[in-house]
Amino acid sequence: MATKAKKKSSAKRPTAKLEVRDFSIAELARELNSFNIDNYWDLGKFLVDKVMPTARKQGMFEDQVLKMISSQPGIKFPFSILKQCQQYYTYYPDVKKRSLPEVFYFDLATKVDETKHRDHYEKMALEYKWTISDLRKKIHDDGLARRIDERTKYGFDLRERNVWTFDTSDPRFGKPNFKGRISGQIVANALYYYTKSGDYIVDPFAGSGTLADIVDILPHFNDRKYKLYDANPIDERISRNNVLLTGIPEQSGTVDYIFLDPPAEFTQKDSSSDFEVSLEAARADFLLKFKGIIRECSRVLKSGGKASIVIEPAFAGKEFIDFPNEVTQLFKEQGFKEIGKVYLPKRSSESAMKIAAGIAEVKGIKALGSDCRELLTFQKP
Ligand SMILES: C[S@@+](CC[C@H](N)C(=O)[O-])C[C@H]1O[C@@H](n2cnc3c(N)ncnc32)[C@H](O)[C@@H]1O
Repeated sequence: MATKAKKKSSAKRPTAKLEVRDFSIAELARELNSFNIDNYWDLGKFLVDKVMPTARKQGMFEDQVLKMISSQPGIKFPFSILKQCQQYYTYYPDVKKRSLPEVFYFDLATKVDETKHRDHYEKMALEYKWTISDLRKKIHDDGLARRIDERTKYGFDLRERNVWTFDTSDPRFGKPNFKGRISGQIVANALYYYTKSGDYIVDPFAGSGTLADIVDILPHFNDRKYKLYDANPIDERISRNNVLLTGIPEQSGTVDYIFLDPPAEFTQKDSSSDFEVSLEAARADFLLKFKGIIRECSRVLKSGGKASIVIEPAFAGKEFIDFPNEVTQLFKEQGFKEIGKVYLPKRSSESAMKIAAGIAEVKGIKALGSDCRELLTFQKP
């Protein structure tokens, strides 16, 4: 795209006489191929002045024609380059009269969406005598800052992919020394994706009240209502209830969202017992408990209501129980649809893998441990 290369190639520029009746993708592709690979502005001018009006008259969209051209056999320009060239010429048809080297304008046209931001960068580059690397760094850093801003505008670390890891638990949510407390950021992300304004939320295993803290502290969730239960309530917001004995004490069809963070003992074996011998028993015990809990979820949820559960597989010696899969089957048996799966890798401090591996080593067997929980979400029809 260097100016030098552009000058060199202007001699080779095609005459680009393109009449409506001559319109042919193959012909355009041939003409485009005669452009110098670095000659982006001329290429953009050809696309904007000649190709686009003709394509429009033929009833084609701009991107459609660019895609057709770039898929012609032998064409040396991919769609992305054609698009960038078109943008470059559209934004800077007067590039030759401008004060900065052309490469600045190519970067601005293809990396900065808004005209006012492009103008601002141009002004700064002139004023502070930026090099092209300075401009690129500034655009990159500003983009990064903008993404961080967007992420934190809700007051927590919003995750946009399905692996949620957090270096530390946000100290504002839950009680720091509570055994089994979940990172508040996980609950906040679950509420962000699976609840809406005014929803009624129930947490049957409330523990240290992490969910209530999220709703109470973060303005984004203030308009949700919640009810917390636990077999051993530790604060006044939590009501005493043993879900295995008395289910979820809510009216049928009244709840929008249930967050299930069951205690580890519901799925993990007692390390002193021989899991291999009791594998089937552990599975049967799990099914018994969760069948009842899921039936209760189905009863109290409204139609369209959702339930999320934090669950992980159990490994022991050569054996393995895929609890996430078991729980999925149970929800499906109740007519639920699976609508979300998120991976929750453990921090090394949370990981029981080393202990499991240690026990296995003593027993002389190769063994894996679980280092990743899953957050599964289901919707009632
Ligand atoms: C993994 S902890 C939940 C932690 C919570 N999400 C937090 O961040 O603090 C599981 C909780 O389930 C409670 N629990 C255990 N068995 C229960 C039962 N049968 N019914 C209701 N709660 C129970 C425990 O007291 C414990 O507080």
